[in-house]
Order: sequence, then C-alpha cells, then structure tokens
Amino acid sequence: MSHAPSSLPTPVPPSPTGSLRSFAVTAFGGTARVPGDKSISHRALMLGALAVGETEIEGLLEGDDVRHTAGAMVALGATVEPGTDGGPWRVRGAGVGGLTEPDRVLDMGNSGTAARLLIGVVASHPITCFFTGDASLNRRPMARVTAPLERMGASFVGRAGGRLPLAVIGTDHPVPIEYRLPVASAQVKSAILLAGLNTPGTTTVIETHPTRDHGELMLRHFGARVTTEILVGGALAVSVTGQPELTGCRVRVPADPSSAAFPAVAALLHPGAALTLTAVGVNPRRTGLYQTLQEMGADLRFENPRIEAGEPVADLQIRGSMLRGVDVPPERAPSMIDEYPVLAMAAACAEGTTRMFGLAELRVKESDRLAMVAHGLAACGVAVETGPESLFVHGTGHPPRGGGFIATAMDHRIAMSFLVLGTVSAEPVTIDDGSFIETSFPGFVDLMNRLGARIETVSEAGP
Ligand code: S3P
Repeated sequence: MSHAPSSLPTPVPPSPTGSLRSFAVTAFGGTARVPGDKSISHRALMLGALAVGETEIEGLLEGDDVRHTAGAMVALGATVEPGTDGGPWRVRGAGVGGLTEPDRVLDMGNSGTAARLLIGVVASHPITCFFTGDASLNRRPMARVTAPLERMGASFVGRAGGRLPLAVIGTDHPVPIEYRLPVASAQVKSAILLAGLNTPGTTTVIETHPTRDHGELMLRHFGARVTTEILVGGALAVSVTGQPELTGCRVRVPADPSSAAFPAVAALLHPGAALTLTAVGVNPRRTGLYQTLQEMGADLRFENPRIEAGEPVADLQIRGSMLRGVDVPPERAPSMIDEYPVLAMAAACAEGTTRMFGLAELRVKESDRLAMVAHGLAACGVAVETGPESLFVHGTGHPPRGGGFIATAMDHRIAMSFLVLGTVSAEPVTIDDGSFIETSFPGFVDLMNRLGARIETVSEAGP
C-alpha cells in the first residue's frame, strides 16, 4: 500500500464566501437540468469565432471557464454577444485564418481546455499571443500541445515544461502533420485539429484510446471536412482538411454529463430517491461513469434518447441503489476522466472494494486529483490505497463517518464530489473553498439544495 504524498496543500481557513458544508439529508430527488456541456461550449465559441457569419449557441455553459474563452475570442477579433436571461449567445466570426493579434495577455483562468485549444487555434495564425492562467492552470503541463504545434511551425517561449505564462509565436506558413498522441487527450487532439484548420493540406491525429470527439462533430457541423479511419490494431486516425470555409450555424449544447454526475451519484446514495436529469449529453465517449455505476448495481437509465445538433442526448432516470465495488479498467479512463472523484464517493459507500486503474492523467488535472481524493476520503474515515496510476477505495456498504475538512486545491470537481459525500455521511463534510465550482457548474449549491441537499456557507474561522 502506498499513501498520497504529504506535500499536499493544507486546507485554507474558511472564508465567509468560500467555505461550504454539506449535511446529511434523508430525501433527495426531483427533476433538474444541469448546465451546458463545458467541452462543447468552448468549442462552439471557438468555431463560431472562426466561421463566416453568425453562430447562435443555445444552452451555452455560462461558467467561468467558458467566459474566459469568450473573452479571448473577442480579444482575437470575433464579436461575442452574451445571451440575456439564459437565452442564446451570438458569435460573429472572423473566418478561418482571420483572427487578429490581441493587444493584451489572454488569461484563461482555471481552464486547461480553453488554454490548450486556443494555443492550437493561434499557432497557425501569423500573430503573437501571450497566455496565462490562475495558479492551478499555470502548474499544468503544456508541452503536450506545444511539441506537436512546433512541428507545424509555431514557436513558444514558456516556463519549464512549457508551462504558462507562455508566448505563442504563430506561423504564417503552417505545415500539416501526422501526429500519434502520446497521452489519451481530447484537448491535445483538438488543439492539433484546430491548428490544422488554417493549414493547407491534411492534418492527422492518431489516437490509440478514443477520446471525446466533440471537436470532430462540431467541426463537421460548421462545414469542415473531418474523417475518422480505423487503423489496423484499432487506433483511430482523425484528419481535417485545411482551409475550409466554416459557416456560422446554430448549436444546441446538451447538459453536461460530467456535471450531471454529481446529483446522479447523490441520488444513488439515498435509498428511495428518484431523480430525473433532462437533456444530458450521452455521447458514448463520455459515458464511462454511467456504465461503471450500472456495473456497481445502480438503477440508472437513459430515457427518451435523441440527437440534438449532432450530439446524442437522453433524460437520465436515477433511483437510490445499493452499490457494490467493481474493477474499473484502464481503457475506460478517457470516457470518464473527469468523473473519478465522484465515482470515488460512490465507491466509499458501496459494499466492497472499487479498484480504478489507468489514472495517471488525474495527477495533472486542475489538481492532483488522485492525491486529493485519497487525502479527503481518508479524512472522512474511508480506507483508500493509491499507486502512481491507481486508486482503491474500500467501501463498507454504509455511508462513511465523514466529518473531514477538505482541501480542494482550486479544483471544482474535488469540491463538488466531497459535498456529495456530505449528503450521506454521518458527520457533515466541509470544503475549504467552493468558489471554483463556478468554473463548470454555476448554481450547483442551489440546484442540489432544491433537490433536497443541505449545503451551507460556513462563516466561522478555522477547520
Ligand atoms: C476536455 C478533455 C479532457 C477533460 C477536460 C475537458 C476537452 O481533458 O479532462 O475537462 O474538452 O477536450 P484531456 O483530454 O486532456 O484528458
């Protein structure tokens, strides 16, 4: 057995606005729609800014991460008109290759997706851009995108490991590449395909483990030619033909399955609960968590399946269920990469051990999620084991003690996961800072409380 490293951030003392506490409740359920998909929202804004004419985006996630992308697209020359009262956003684009040099540093906040995808977009424009982010984003590796983009002709000046703050010197003579992804990452795949848009010829990304394909689907939706070929051995070759004319269009963003995961797991943990989450994106490259929960014994169904603007959508029906531990194979990781923290909460309440493998990428998310989950669960009385790429959670079939004071390390999904655990644990769970929840799930606390949770702001000082 190994333990999570001891050099983790200690929880910051609660502030009146930042710290949240979740108390056990006996009933949870109802009907809700969670906010729009983060991955699709970023891509809709970026492609809208690269299209000719107007793009209307319905259901855009109005979280901080996506607002950073919107701000950057404006700085690069597009027009973005926010929706009023939850209505559609409108983007008027500059056309492929038409972005202009921003006169300020592009601050991507907490968002790795915004930073990596936009670095790809500007790499094949003859402009120079400066990217930065918050303390979490500035720690995250960027060499995974700068290495292939250098091969296309862009240059970069960044910190060790290519980290932000980073200067991108885009090229006016981009060359198409064929690139095999060394890590399963939709962000890297999308960054290269987006750079390929303003590159003559065909740019190809080969992925051994299929990652989310929202970029490919949306590129096609805007009129680009994108092909996916299955190679001998099963790898996928995804190719984009450069310099298409993208046409502004209507995009309907499904509810985010990664956000739906939090109320869904909360419902599963409450005996007798019945919850419906409407219009959730169920793209098969995103549904690994739901498959895993079903294997654990969850009563969870996809009802009324349909296609909305090229993406599969369904209403999720969830009922409180007795869960049992399972093994989650490494090849499933790309389809549920953001859902391991909340799965770990379900595993903590399940009967038996849940063993999760292939988690190396969790160490370079908004925080080292493997370590943060392990530390937080241990603080809540749950037996856990970690390895470099694995997490084992030993459940007892009952909600754990809880009572932990959880360091969230600027990570929205760590924050929401432990608040879900607090809805069933014997003692309340307190998180040091809930403010980062705004990056992906604005209105989380209100939505959860409307469904029966009791999550409150903590105003007293100290853990
Ligand atoms: C995303 C891809 C995933 C995911 C992130 C969003 C995207 O990252 O963790 O939240 O929109 O492409 P990786 O592809 O780097 O694993």
